Amino acid sequence: MNINIPRGTQDILPGEVEKWQYIEQKAKDICGRFRYSEIRTPIFEHTDLFARGVGDTTDIVQKEMYTFQDRGDRSLTLRPEGTAPVARSYVENKMFGQVSQPVKLFYIGPMFRYERPQAGRYRQFVQFGIEAMGSNDPSIDAEVMALAMTMYQELGLKSIKLVLNTLGDLESRKAHREALIAHFKPRIEEFCSDCQNRLETNPLRILDCKKDRGHELMANAPSIHDYLNEESSAYFSAVKESLDLMGITYVVDPTLVRGLDYYNHTAFEIMSDAEGFGAITTLSGGGRYNGLVEDLGGPATPGIGFAMSLERLLLALKAEGVELPVTNKLDCYLVTMGEEAKSKAPGILFDLRKAGISAEKDYLDKKMKAQFKAADRENAKFVAVLGDDELANEQINIKDLSTGEQVQVPLDEAAQYMKDRL
Ligand code: HAM
Repeated sequence: MNINIPRGTQDILPGEVEKWQYIEQKAKDICGRFRYSEIRTPIFEHTDLFARGVGDTTDIVQKEMYTFQDRGDRSLTLRPEGTAPVARSYVENKMFGQVSQPVKLFYIGPMFRYERPQAGRYRQFVQFGIEAMGSNDPSIDAEVMALAMTMYQELGLKSIKLVLNTLGDLESRKAHREALIAHFKPRIEEFCSDCQNRLETNPLRILDCKKDRGHELMANAPSIHDYLNEESSAYFSAVKESLDLMGITYVVDPTLVRGLDYYNHTAFEIMSDAEGFGAITTLSGGGRYNGLVEDLGGPATPGIGFAMSLERLLLALKAEGVELPVTNKLDCYLVTMGEEAKSKAPGILFDLRKAGISAEKDYLDKKMKAQFKAADRENAKFVAVLGDDELANEQINIKDLSTGEQVQVPLDEAAQYMKDRL
């Protein structure tokens, strides 16, 4: 019986993996410019972290976590997202005590959610995310969105849209929540069982229900914007002003709701408008989470961040026909002619590699013609041809495959010759 890959996961093979490396490098490069430092947290955490951090009533915690007991009978969970782990680490490592604030962090790594797999939705996916903790300045909200947009733009995406909303502060949210309950309660039996449960636990999430999207009560549901107190309104205006200053365009969507419980004030998603992108159009999402660090036992600390999956980014690149400038070029293919040359090849190849040249040779006892073919197939810049005669004189022939130019150089100068021309 064959054993196949688990549902909702994928192998990333050579040829494709170079694109991932390119994107990861781009993310690191942009984070360097925006001054975010990398953090690496464990793949699994105590289950309570997500129950408390992401929220007991969210789909993630209720339906999507990979939770298991370890041999010491602890309940552990493969991380479904990166914000709660980073906040945990922030508290545990007392980063709130660092002189330099806010603490600006990024991560790239696999996340796990037991979701129904489809294009753009996987059970294991890689998130690139950032978190800025310790600042309540609206300009950092704009900075986080700017970083996300920069990533897409520098990779060559054109059909992207920043959708922005505010969820207000605790007081505003409470008033909105009560209005939502009053709005839906009289006719809640007409909604799905999830929404019926959400009415008391998390009525905001009703607005995000896929099943009841068409219900007439949805269209005229109370908007958070009618319940924002002065402070929340002012904060939202300041975030928009910062975005305007950066020349970043956005649309405000008062119905934008996020699937995680920790958000307040700024919430945003970046969507793809590209034709043929498929049913899932959200490329990334994020927002402000001013209560999270405190909920996890730290001092009251404001925070904001976002995350995107590389899988959805790659789908968007494909939908827009963007080719990433990835190459897997070989500097030198070593062709041998004769038994003596063949027996010396391993040492010569190793010397080239140590000298900084990417080099390859034949391992299948191929004839010379087939070795040349392999050099072509691997896109080699140079072919170094070693015959028994050359070897006797400590010489080697180097042919530049792009120009056809051919020279004979002393063996110990071969690496330098090629380096000068690469
Ligand atoms: P999220 O909206 O749950 O937010 O996920 C963020 C992004 O992760 C999505 O926009 C999407 O690109 C990707 N993603 C989520 N689930 C899947 C999946 N099953 N397959 C492929 N990609 C997926 C968060 O995770 C928050 N921690 C973001 C954040 C950071 N908020 C503040 N800081």
